[in-house]
Amino acid sequence: MKKYSELVITDLKAAAKTLSNDDLVAIPTETVYGLAANAFSENAIDKIYQTKNRPQTNPLIVHLHNFEQLPKVAKTIPKQVELLAAHFWPGPLTVVLEKSDAISTKVTAGKNTVAVRVPNHELTLALLRSLAFPLVAPSANKSNHISPTCPQHVFNSLKEDSPLILDGGICSKGIESTIIGFENHKPTIYRLGSISKEAIEAVLGTSVQLANHEVSSIAPGMQKKHYAPRTPFISCTNLQEELKKYPNKKIGVLFFTENPLAKQMLHYRILSSSGCVEEAMANLYKMMHELDELELDVILSELAPEKGVGASINDRLTRASS
Ligand code: TXA
Ligand code: MG
Repeated sequence: MKKYSELVITDLKAAAKTLSNDDLVAIPTETVYGLAANAFSENAIDKIYQTKNRPQTNPLIVHLHNFEQLPKVAKTIPKQVELLAAHFWPGPLTVVLEKSDAISTKVTAGKNTVAVRVPNHELTLALLRSLAFPLVAPSANKSNHISPTCPQHVFNSLKEDSPLILDGGICSKGIESTIIGFENHKPTIYRLGSISKEAIEAVLGTSVQLANHEVSSIAPGMQKKHYAPRTPFISCTNLQEELKKYPNKKIGVLFFTENPLAKQMLHYRILSSSGCVEEAMANLYKMMHELDELELDVILSELAPEKGVGASINDRLTRASS
């Protein structure tokens, strides 16, 4: 098994060469690290599914370096997508569009739609510009683990299956992109993420609905349990009451903000001392990873205020605990 230090690189040429040979490279983005492969190579795409133990039914996101590349992968581009791209790209918004013929159904898990975004990370944008093909990249973790927000998280999750990791530091946003689709011309959020519903509504000038994943299968990766630490994880509305249920247990707590209860705790993290939802979002996975490494019996978490990206944080906390 290769050591961490042998896998972490900063050389874009080495990354480009590896990808051109149909091998995988973990790449930094502003949201989380991605496990990247040539989007036009079925052989390379197979390696993603193997490395992650990802179900073949869960499609991948295509990463481009600018909006002008979009017609290569998508057949029709609605006006609303032009608006959103002008406002949010490069950035953490993924749009789901009718796929072009160049996109294999291996990327889309058999669907005729493709998910696409332009990530906002200088290194990865430079890498994409140097390649003759776009990259598909799911989060660079084993399926159902917490997504990685630094190179060490990638290595810890993929271990002996870890590919080269392009070191772009710590992901600034800290949770995945927001995914939006336009079925029947109705903008619908398939996954809450680093861009809030409110921010999207402000740009579109119209209200946007949230997909109900209990009744639809439009975003197959959105099953209830996801993004979970190994330690039993419970998100709760009344932390004080919940704490009483675990006498003599080794408990960890993830506080949203400063809380007098922290004084009684041996193991805890505070997502944002000032109660800022953006800061809390950037810290979320890092702190979940940290608590998960402490060999605790249970991790309890408070919910964030349900507005702006607070709703995205709560989405992840709820999925981690179901
Ligand atoms: O921030 C991100 O989006 C990160 C970085 C690396 O870009 N990527 C990421 O990929 O989170 P992944 O594979 O962990 O999540 C992709 C999600 C899945 O929930 C999948 O169901 C959805 O995108 N998706 C992909 N193609 C889709 C499609 N055609 N229709 C609906 N949902 C789709
Ligand atoms: Mg993922």
